[in-house]
Amino acid sequence: MLINSSTKITILVDNIILSSSPANLLAEHGFSALIETDRETFLYDTGSSGLALLNNAHRLKKDLKEVDAIILSHNHSDHTGGLLTLLDYLRKDIKIYAHKSIFKKTFSSKTKKTTFIGMPFAKDMLESLGADFVFLESPTKIKENILLSYQIDASNNFEITDQKLLKLDTNTHLVPDTFEEDMSIYFKSNDKLSVLTGCAHKGVINIIEQGKRLTECKKLDAVIGGSHLGSASKEQQDQTIDALKILDPERVGFVHCTGLQMISRCANELKEKFVFSGVGSTFEV
Ligand SMILES: [Fe+2]
Ligand SMILES: [Fe+2]
Repeated sequence: MLINSSTKITILVDNIILSSSPANLLAEHGFSALIETDRETFLYDTGSSGLALLNNAHRLKKDLKEVDAIILSHNHSDHTGGLLTLLDYLRKDIKIYAHKSIFKKTFSSKTKKTTFIGMPFAKDMLESLGADFVFLESPTKIKENILLSYQIDASNNFEITDQKLLKLDTNTHLVPDTFEEDMSIYFKSNDKLSVLTGCAHKGVINIIEQGKRLTECKKLDAVIGGSHLGSASKEQQDQTIDALKILDPERVGFVHCTGLQMISRCANELKEKFVFSGVGSTFEV
């Protein structure tokens, strides 16, 4: 059972910078969020280059050297590509929580040419810079009120993983990626669940439902992060929004791979519950 405690989430890397944000922030295609509790600091993902991460943390007065552990949402380079720059900057041994499939080889066939989009670094290379990988085997608490989801189960039949995103299988054939490594973070506060996602490749509704089962929370507070709704079918977008309305979160801060069109639509549909977010946006959960 998770206990109550307040936690601050700050988006450090995103595709969008809001006009109300401090000056000199950088946007890039990617995602990273800093999670500050009363005692620990965790970093969820690293963006794609590491440059936006270091710059934005500095501009937002966040000291990345205080980070106690890194959590990787999934294998894609727009979430893992900043690791090398970050480790080089930190110059210390640091735990990295991830699924064991984090180093699988993944590709995108969205353009004519199939391109590599996976983790751009070898495990040995990252370890030589201080990475201490902790490969999870089940949902794992990193603090009393913070839980890493581990693998996401399907709870509906409309959230279909993006069939243009591929992985190499054991026979080195390219097959649709099943995103077994997709990992979200659940926060429990005052018996309410908040959810932080990377790209939500397994489906944001599946992720929320799993969080409700694992934390036994009935009420949903904030849903923050990438939703991957931007490239989903119209049918999947419609059904996801309908399901989200039934789940009735108090706040929705979809960013990153949600895309501008779906961000606008979600803002229209979810009305005052939708929080326009980008680099520097903060959520207390
Ligand atoms: Fe992404
Ligand atoms: Fe992704």
